[in-house]
Amino acid sequence: MTSQIWGGRFSGGPSDIMEAINASIDFDQRLAKQDIRGSRAHCAMLVAQGILSKDDGEAIMDGLLKIEKEIGDGSFTFKRALEDIHMNIEGRLADLIGEPAGRLHTARSRNDQVATDFRLWVRAAIDTIDDQLKGLQKVLIDKAEAHADTIMPGFTHLQAAQPVTFGHHLLAYVEMIGRDRGRFADARTRLNENPLGAGALAGTSFPLDRDRTSKDLDFDRPMANSLDAVSDRDFALEFLAASSILSVHLSRLAEELVIWASAQFGFVAFTDEFSTGSSMMPQKRNPDAAELLRGKVGRVIGAMNGLLIVVKGLPLTYSKDMQEDKEPVFAVFDTLELCVAAATGMISDIGVNKATMQDAAGAGYTTATDLADWLVREKNVAFRESHHIAGQVVKLAEDKDCDLEDLSVSDLSSVDERLTADALQVVSVEASVNSRTSYGGTAPENVRAQVSAARERFLTGGNL
Ligand code: ARG
Repeated sequence: MTSQIWGGRFSGGPSDIMEAINASIDFDQRLAKQDIRGSRAHCAMLVAQGILSKDDGEAIMDGLLKIEKEIGDGSFTFKRALEDIHMNIEGRLADLIGEPAGRLHTARSRNDQVATDFRLWVRAAIDTIDDQLKGLQKVLIDKAEAHADTIMPGFTHLQAAQPVTFGHHLLAYVEMIGRDRGRFADARTRLNENPLGAGALAGTSFPLDRDRTSKDLDFDRPMANSLDAVSDRDFALEFLAASSILSVHLSRLAEELVIWASAQFGFVAFTDEFSTGSSMMPQKRNPDAAELLRGKVGRVIGAMNGLLIVVKGLPLTYSKDMQEDKEPVFAVFDTLELCVAAATGMISDIGVNKATMQDAAGAGYTTATDLADWLVREKNVAFRESHHIAGQVVKLAEDKDCDLEDLSVSDLSSVDERLTADALQVVSVEASVNSRTSYGGTAPENVRAQVSAARERFLTGGNL
């Protein structure tokens, strides 16, 4: 069977293999809504410009409405023989309204059509993800508020470094997610230009009104260069790049949850809702959701790499290679939707073991810096020297197998006579975190202020 769309110069039909490699309908049916919306805008513009008669325009609009309903209620039959979503819809339109269906494609090519559909789809995907990320920020901020003065060890090299507050730690992720949202918003701004009207590649001789279709489709403006409009997929790459960075953030959060939930740390525990058991070991409560969140990043980065490789070296303008652009984007969207929901669920689910966290915060002489700082502040000792003195105090405590807090005044003065009783007051974990009041620091009062600021910036203000 020759194609009704381009049958003119063909006498035979494609082989089964040709059809199999060529068809995209199995996945690009996800563009159906956008395709219909784009066709409506195109049709209305053609009528307004006198390129299409009113009657034909009405018939087309009616037909598109019916098709939309059929797709919505599942009665539409997608046909591989019709290759892709564009030809499936146009084919059905021809079944429904006959001859006028053939006029819809005036001054349009599937090249500008698919670029338009896909931009609309990615734009909606970004809006959905942004909404979800806001939800994740909300649970992180709420948890941070509840734990503004819960003390935990802060780590460098995964070695206990200095005490921090758990609220402060959670707010670090709120910042990261905020920048992720900013990257998506940024990508959205750049993608929000209208390719429709670029035709196959060179523009068209018909007197189109591209501003009108831009407005109709909520694009900011028509794309300025027809060759660029049909051939670049940087908007999809930006989506995947922002998604990759987000996934990396989520994987770090996930890894921390895995570590914290281990018996060795015991900082947090998941309820049954976010744990799984072991088929052999009855005692096990595994953080599978967190591990999967950590692992899913592989797909996302893989998808980005995949599309970069597809687009690399393609000559302008459209080549069929570009049909490979959709699956990675769809797959990443689906993955992210699930991952952000899982992250949000896990953060609200976790129970926090404050006592364990606080004990761990003091282990490993994490307040030695506070002692060194005290010597600088109170005794005008140079920091390099005070660092050395505090090191000797740590060594003494190690020898005596006790915490810094448990050393006596004479222990201290045996190391350096400038270390007086007052010095002992700065070595508790509470004193340490309370003292970290520099802007951006971990003190509970800072965390409370940052909780309010974050609510304003990310949840109500909307200024990313
Ligand atoms: N299904 C195609 C794609 O996704 C639509 C564009 C086809 N254009 C063409 N000149 N064959 O890329």
